[in-house]
Amino acid sequence: MEKINIAIDGPAGAGKSTIARLVANELGFVYVDTGAMYRAVTWSILQANLRPEQEEEVISVAQRLHIRLVPGEEGQQVFVDGQDVTAEIRSAAVTGNVSRTSQIAEVRRILTEKQKQLAADKGVVMDGRDIGSHVLPDAELKIFLTASVRVRAERRYKEIQDSRPEVTLEQLEQEIASRDKMDEQRETSPLVQAADAILLDTTEMTITEVVERILELCRSKVGGGK
Ligand code: C5P
Repeated sequence: MEKINIAIDGPAGAGKSTIARLVANELGFVYVDTGAMYRAVTWSILQANLRPEQEEEVISVAQRLHIRLVPGEEGQQVFVDGQDVTAEIRSAAVTGNVSRTSQIAEVRRILTEKQKQLAADKGVVMDGRDIGSHVLPDAELKIFLTASVRVRAERRYKEIQDSRPEVTLEQLEQEIASRDKMDEQRETSPLVQAADAILLDTTEMTITEVVERILELCRSKVGGGK
């Protein structure tokens, strides 16, 4: 298929990364998880004993960090200054601080710049919160994925039972709702459905159905049927 850029946005736990990775595999495109970049910055500041509120220090960490995303069979691996932090960036501490870190306008500017570079040659499926609205406003296909908070919490619950066995479904539901609120209400490029994005409510859809639907939309965008 002709190379296009696909933006997939939506709230926490809507299945964006799973769906984006499968769509990218099907098309032979590169998958870019932008949430992992905000998580990498957050992991680094916590390592340096900083809090997201220390904005100047956070910005200087974000400026000097070298974040590398490496596509793999099982998903994307994330390296910070050469160190593999793929598992560490999913910790409860990072998840609890990432939305506050990503409110900082200068952090967003730095990461947005990197994201635009990654998509410059096209053939990218990028997921996040502001991809269709801000990072790749010219993406040929924009999807806004959502599902009810309960269903998103249930999906996340199944996913993280090995890494965070102590967490309850109710805690996850609260965690997701509070992250959504911060992401939707921040001043700089908040979570919003772009005017030209197609809304897919996946509450009652399987992963395969969502992937198929997006592939159909891609085919119709590039001239049908191929
Ligand atoms: O996608 P994921 O849930 O890993 O993203 C973690 C957090 O990173 C989000 O809750 C949001 O605060 C931030 N984020 C963002 N803009 C993006 C991607 C993620 O602000 N494009």
